[in-house]
Amino acid sequence: MEPFRIKAVEPIPFPSVPERRRALKEAGFNLFRVPARAITIDLLTDSGTSAMSAAQWAALMVGDESYAGARSYERFETVVRELTGYPEVIPAHQGRAAERILLGRLLRPGDVSVANTHFDTTRASVEAAGAEAVDLPAEQTGPAPFGGDLSVPALRDLLSGPGGSRVRCVVLTVTNNAGGGQPVSLDNVAAVRELCDHHGVTLLLDASRFAENAYLITERDPAHAGRAPRDVAREVFALADGCWASLKKDGVANIGGLIALRDAELARRCRDQLIAVEGFPTYGGLAGRDLEALAQGLLEVTDPDYLRYRAQTARWFGEQLAEAGLPVLQPTGCHAVYVDAAALLPHVPPHRLPATALANELYLAGAVRVSELGTLVFGRPASDGGDDLPAPRELVRFALPRRVYTRSHLEYVAESAATVVAKAAEIPGYRIVEQTGPLRHFTAVLAPG
Ligand code: F0G
Repeated sequence: MEPFRIKAVEPIPFPSVPERRRALKEAGFNLFRVPARAITIDLLTDSGTSAMSAAQWAALMVGDESYAGARSYERFETVVRELTGYPEVIPAHQGRAAERILLGRLLRPGDVSVANTHFDTTRASVEAAGAEAVDLPAEQTGPAPFGGDLSVPALRDLLSGPGGSRVRCVVLTVTNNAGGGQPVSLDNVAAVRELCDHHGVTLLLDASRFAENAYLITERDPAHAGRAPRDVAREVFALADGCWASLKKDGVANIGGLIALRDAELARRCRDQLIAVEGFPTYGGLAGRDLEALAQGLLEVTDPDYLRYRAQTARWFGEQLAEAGLPVLQPTGCHAVYVDAAALLPHVPPHRLPATALANELYLAGAVRVSELGTLVFGRPASDGGDDLPAPRELVRFALPRRVYTRSHLEYVAESAATVVAKAAEIPGYRIVEQTGPLRHFTAVLAPG
């Protein structure tokens, strides 16, 4: 059951079937372009969509809007230092700004960044620095408790091979959003740390979902059962040299990002860039009140009751979708349920975007919005103008905004899913009509067929 009660509510729209058809067509068949007023249940993302607590709303009022050295920055810095153990704390307006600044200061052209999986914006920042992003997820056959782990043998081979000296950093994305939202184990973080030490490589965390990762460690690793999630999170941070995070996730607020580091010199370079593109180092593109809400959110997010509810909701919702006939990836994590669109729609080849096809059909069925994590996001146009290079998997993500939807909202989504499954064989694929650059999915225009 939800470990909270509801104090403020917001009406949700119920567009008719003809209105949904029109909205999808006008959006170029791209759900990112559908206006929120045409969405009933929005599971596009868990990012920036959280419901804040009464304590967070109260904290907004004490926000100190001083340009430099605001009290709200001091509170934020204290909470982040206590959590991460990193002395250098740099706010940014969201995760991708933090990534762009940190990776842009750390990486040089020709360098390599290795990750369990770079999230799409992370990859874009690595490539913008002229460096190469290499994903080395651990090979899994079947459901694994720590499906977010990085492959230690593959990292060892890379670091001791001819290209090893090009590796500048290793990134562990906790949890691994692009890889099914699965956690990274503490053993994996420790093993990667050892290799990084041996080869003099910087180890960074993309800590956007650090609390969920810590909770899943306490649930899935008997060696850490019963531990406080905050303690486990601290241990993970202690093993790395620094982190960035989108605080729109486990900051449980609507905007915010963070860089936190041990290295004072790297932090100085980041702050120089921050001033140029975000703002003074004690607000980094945020209002003082945002820093207050984030400081409070970062305290609340490791509450074991909240995290248990979060993991149980995802598990229960995964069961409902599986009962509706969707091929659900197991085990479920915390922030989302992932579905294998290729398994449901074998008649739609990757370059006809099966994940997009499933997402669009769910919208038509129930004005439910989910996101595609398949070839539209992770594929690339072929250099010879032929079919797109496909993504490794064609996933659809049902993301769960924090503390927003109730069980009956999610039951409604499962009912919509069942109607889609019933006509899976007739669902059409899509062609890309217009696209730009590596983050094409946000703006692409598509057409059925
Ligand atoms: N890293 C990870 C692991 C993310 O999931 C995201 C964003 C970012 C970095 C970028 O952060 O959005 O604050 O700029 N993920 C969102 C999502 C967009 O829907 O999963 P941002």
